[in-house]
Amino acid sequence: MPEFQHSPGMRDILPPDSGRWRQFQAVFAQVVESAGYGEVMPPLMEDLAVFQRVGEATDVVTKEMYDFIDRGGRHVSLRPECTASVCRIFAQHRPATPWKVFYAGPNFRYEKPQRGRFRQFDQVGIEVLGADDPYLDVEVIALGWEFYQRLGLRQVKLLLNSLGEPDDRARYEASLAQYFNDNLDRLSPESQITLTKNPLRVLDSKRAADAAVLANAPRIASFYSPEAAAHFEAVQQGLTDLGIPFTIDTALVRGLDYYRRTTFEFQGGTLDSAQNALGGGGRYDGLVESLGGPATHGIGFALGLDRTLLACDDEGVFGAPNKTVDVFVVDTTGGQEALRITAQLRAAGISADRAFENRSMKSQMKGADRSGAPLAIIVGSNELDAGQVVIRPLRGEDAQRSVARDTLISEVIQALQTAPKEATQ
Ligand code: HAM
Repeated sequence: MPEFQHSPGMRDILPPDSGRWRQFQAVFAQVVESAGYGEVMPPLMEDLAVFQRVGEATDVVTKEMYDFIDRGGRHVSLRPECTASVCRIFAQHRPATPWKVFYAGPNFRYEKPQRGRFRQFDQVGIEVLGADDPYLDVEVIALGWEFYQRLGLRQVKLLLNSLGEPDDRARYEASLAQYFNDNLDRLSPESQITLTKNPLRVLDSKRAADAAVLANAPRIASFYSPEAAAHFEAVQQGLTDLGIPFTIDTALVRGLDYYRRTTFEFQGGTLDSAQNALGGGGRYDGLVESLGGPATHGIGFALGLDRTLLACDDEGVFGAPNKTVDVFVVDTTGGQEALRITAQLRAAGISADRAFENRSMKSQMKGADRSGAPLAIIVGSNELDAGQVVIRPLRGEDAQRSVARDTLISEVIQALQTAPKEATQ
């Protein structure tokens, strides 16, 4: 066992998996850029207070922050998510609205590591600031849905809820708290603790002991103001218009405290229930204000890359891309010719790798096979003297050929056109 390994909950992402991650982000960027979203790159670290605005009743804030005092005495934290940072950025720079942005990158939460739950995990997400239109909620949800479709996932379920306007939510919370307190002795000890912090989060409980109390708990729908009800109605109608299937889940409160009105979650069909949330989001009118900006409407989502890829594995879709070079150069004359040839090939847009350390022909040919390249270019002393190179197809039935060194590029281009390709995804 080597002396050092990565810390618990962290991972090393090696090729070819890393290519899959990059592809994931590229597909996401394609989907959202085609809807007018531009990339924002928040810093990995902020003043702790920025994240505390997410809400003091959130585990993410109270228990999971990677915070520390920096050398200048500032209390800072690695970001546990990006929404608070995007709102801080908006409050600081005041871009024109509606401001439609997307992001991709790592976040840090000190959680108990398990399948689909890590301490460093990647998200892709979008946020729109400065527009209050139910059809924007529909656009945002539809982009998440479209992305999952593009990955090839077919078992994703969309759960939808509305938490009402802040007043509705407050009245609902009070009524829930009353109801749970009246039934305190029938709640699990864990839920009794949750109740003291945020009665809504008790609805999240999956514990059998709580099931009976939860079944008769008051429902948010009876507390909607006419405006909140109309907004929610329009969101549902818009999703139906676009043919996006959804299930209303009145217990969907989500783990972060900043949500108001629309909330939604994408659930995978194959993961354990504790980790089956592939992504989620909602409206968070009020967060920009709490970060010192003007009153601004906001909505967005974040999708977990790690969990979504696990779901892709389970459904057998979106495998690692099969990245190979076009040509592998074998040079038994000392390596200088390989240096020139690879440079010439790469300059012509042909990807090329080579062997080093002037190994034997046999050893270099092994490297050529391992590289997955469809063609090898071989230079021995005979070829060097004759001003030639050998082009050898590494797959299929075609025989190798000697060609003049100065026609190398056009010959390789031609040979690549006819060379059998490995199946790529
Ligand atoms: P969240 O529900 O905390 O929301 O995270 C979104 C997704 O990130 C989760 O559904 C999950 O796939 C992934 N995720 C979260 N924690 C972990 C972890 N420890 N390991 C692996 N994956 C994880 C947010 O972060 C909000 N900022 C979403 C949002 C954007 N709301 C509005 N705009």
